[in-house]
Amino acid sequence: MNLIFLFALHLTLLHMGESHSLRVIKPNVVALDVDGDPMTQMTSVSLQCGDEFKDVEIHWQKNGQMILSKGNSINVNIQAMLGGNFTCHGLSGEVLNHTLVLVNPVNFEKAILKQNQDKEFITCLARNYNGLFHCSWKWSPIRNGVVVFFKAFRNSSHINCSLDPDNAGLTCEEEKCSYSEEVTRINLTLVVRNQYRLEEHQRTFFIHDIVKPEKVSITKAENNEFHWGTPKTWNMPYSYYPLQYEVKVIKPHKGCDDTATPVENEYINETHYKVSDRRRSYTFCVRAQDPFTNQVWSDWNQQR
Ligand SMILES: *[C@@H]1O[C@H](CO)[C@@H](O)[C@H](O)[C@H]1NC(C)=O
Ligand SMILES: *[C@@H]1O[C@H](CO)[C@@H](O)[C@H](O)[C@H]1NC(C)=O
Ligand SMILES: *[C@@H]1O[C@H](CO)[C@@H](O)[C@H](O)[C@H]1NC(C)=O
Ligand SMILES: *[C@@H]1O[C@H](CO)[C@@H](O)[C@H](O)[C@H]1NC(C)=O
Ligand SMILES: *[C@@H]1O[C@H](CO)[C@@H](O)[C@H](O)[C@H]1NC(C)=O
Ligand SMILES: *[C@@H]1O[C@H](CO)[C@@H](O)[C@H](O)[C@H]1NC(C)=O
Repeated sequence: MNLIFLFALHLTLLHMGESHSLRVIKPNVVALDVDGDPMTQMTSVSLQCGDEFKDVEIHWQKNGQMILSKGNSINVNIQAMLGGNFTCHGLSGEVLNHTLVLVNPVNFEKAILKQNQDKEFITCLARNYNGLFHCSWKWSPIRNGVVVFFKAFRNSSHINCSLDPDNAGLTCEEEKCSYSEEVTRINLTLVVRNQYRLEEHQRTFFIHDIVKPEKVSITKAENNEFHWGTPKTWNMPYSYYPLQYEVKVIKPHKGCDDTATPVENEYINETHYKVSDRRRSYTFCVRAQDPFTNQVWSDWNQQR
């Protein structure tokens, strides 16, 4: 009886004593990766105030509430998603340092960002091959998401990104020669949180897979003949960066995205098209795509 009791106690102590390592996301922010259902788990983690505060009597707060642990190095239990902002304080109560502990439920469904139609959380696009690209996301409306960290790189070279003012996108610029062939993909990491729950998102892509030309501009429409220019943001020279176009003629009062069978529909390389159908009114639609990648079409431009 006693033996069993001691054995059980020993197991409990072992479980509680085991201190999990924290992953540093950025200075003062760490992630606790939790496998399985985090709601049923309690993990002991160790926090340090900092080497330079060795001789001071240190006490701690979690989210502004005093906790019992004292000293430079403490162990605290993190239950479910209840991470927090741990601040260590000197004798007169002043904040010496802080560590934001976020819980990353590794096998949990992601919930802070919303998926797009392609089941991706992050949508990236480039207008050309000059090195500028943009990635965006949508916040789940029922959560109060905050960006914690982001980074982008290609084959270990850092890519400069900045967070958009609306907090829902990154504008990135890679210093590269637009002619150079892409051998490796760009890796983009975005870390967000809601309260003390962390979520990590990754995208890896080639620029040539996300390049979406801007709308073409129709420059002339006369006698059923339409002329357009390549989008201003498209790469020059045209001989090296050609575009192909889809043109279609549809019934008036329909939008170009209408899926009904068009009156005329062709794929061409020229930047002009003569409508052969002689009805009095129609909508003319044109969009562009890089013929070498066949990936993303520009949005339609239309003329009624
Ligand atoms: C403050 O705490 C962080 C961990 O969150 C640690 O990396 C850093 O070195 C500490 N700062 C000082 C001045 O000790
Ligand atoms: C955590 O606490 C520190 C020190 O009071 C503060 O500067 C920081 O903004 C807090 N962070 C969060 C996410 O609350
Ligand atoms: C990737 O980086 C390594 C080391 O910096 C370099 O040797 C290699 O040539 C790079 N590969 C490409 C495809 O740029
Ligand atoms: C990164 O972008 C910032 C802001 O646009 C700029 O000030 C900085 O010079 C850029 N750094 C590099 C290495 O391009
Ligand atoms: C880049 O992303 C891919 C796919 O997610 C991943 O397998 C790879 O390890 C990443 N590379 C680095 C250096 O993180
Ligand atoms: C357009 O140009 C591409 C590449 O030069 C070529 O493969 C394709 O056959 C051309 N399409 C038409 C309709 O002429």
